[in-house]
Amino acid sequence: MERTVYLNGEYLLESQASVSIFDRGFLFADAVYEVTAVLQGKLIDNAGHFRRLERSCRELNLTLPVTYQELTAIQHELIAKNGLQEGGIYLQLTRGNEGDRDFSYSEGVAPTLMLFTQARNLVNNPKVQQGIKVISYDDMRWRRRDIKTTSLLPACMAKHAAHAANADDVWLIEDGYVTEGGSSNAYIVTQEGNIVTRPLSNDILHGITRASLITLADELGVTVEERYFTIDEAYAAKEAFISSATTFVWPVVAIDDKPIGDGKPGHIALALRDIYIRTAQAMAE
Ligand code: PDD
Repeated sequence: MERTVYLNGEYLLESQASVSIFDRGFLFADAVYEVTAVLQGKLIDNAGHFRRLERSCRELNLTLPVTYQELTAIQHELIAKNGLQEGGIYLQLTRGNEGDRDFSYSEGVAPTLMLFTQARNLVNNPKVQQGIKVISYDDMRWRRRDIKTTSLLPACMAKHAAHAANADDVWLIEDGYVTEGGSSNAYIVTQEGNIVTRPLSNDILHGITRASLITLADELGVTVEERYFTIDEAYAAKEAFISSATTFVWPVVAIDDKPIGDGKPGHIALALRDIYIRTAQAMAE
């Protein structure tokens, strides 16, 4: 069945929605995006995603054409029109169409705002019980990974390499240290039971799920160390896991074919996942 999508103020069938070949999102990946999870037809952690969208726009001098209230109204309308119960809403904002290709951009061009829904099995996903396998991979991205841009070619290449190696995803490595996952934040649990994850900087995306998990870990009485960790430390960890709006928390059971801990999903990862889902559902909009 065709989805209804949103494009520049209109709700259209996906086959009817089109963007100019001169749109800067298409020519230069001059665009930012967000993905918000939907559970029971409601938005999860949406205020955090909007704040990060505002920040991405500020950093790139992009005009955000909607307020938080206007955006949530669009998101709710799309959820209703598509009967979405569980999955996500993708949003992309580009610097728009200037009618030609020019690296430098003019001020004041109308941006392109587009949203669509994706049905996904978030709560009962088989990856939760199976865990995922990742491979380490060179982090070839630019130096502003804190901005959520659609320049995702390094992530596409890395994930393709992971699939070719019969793995599910990558953990990206820079100067011997893990930065993050292919489209997620990365964590290990030490033998002492502390969670370790890379501190926020321009090197990683400031995950909205990550921020919630750090607060919840505190409530569980688990210490979180925000510090660099190497891939060797990850091989020797008790547990490993990833977080994102499309996975919440997925346990990592092998890195570069080496089993992590006993090779099964870790207790802390699963406990954090449960508490995240419960809390997020209670606060869903
Ligand atoms: N990706 N790091 C990277 C590089 C990401 O692409 C993502 C999210 C995250 C986790 O952020 P959050 O918890 O706010 O979803 C970390 C989304 C889901 C995507 O690109 O589809």
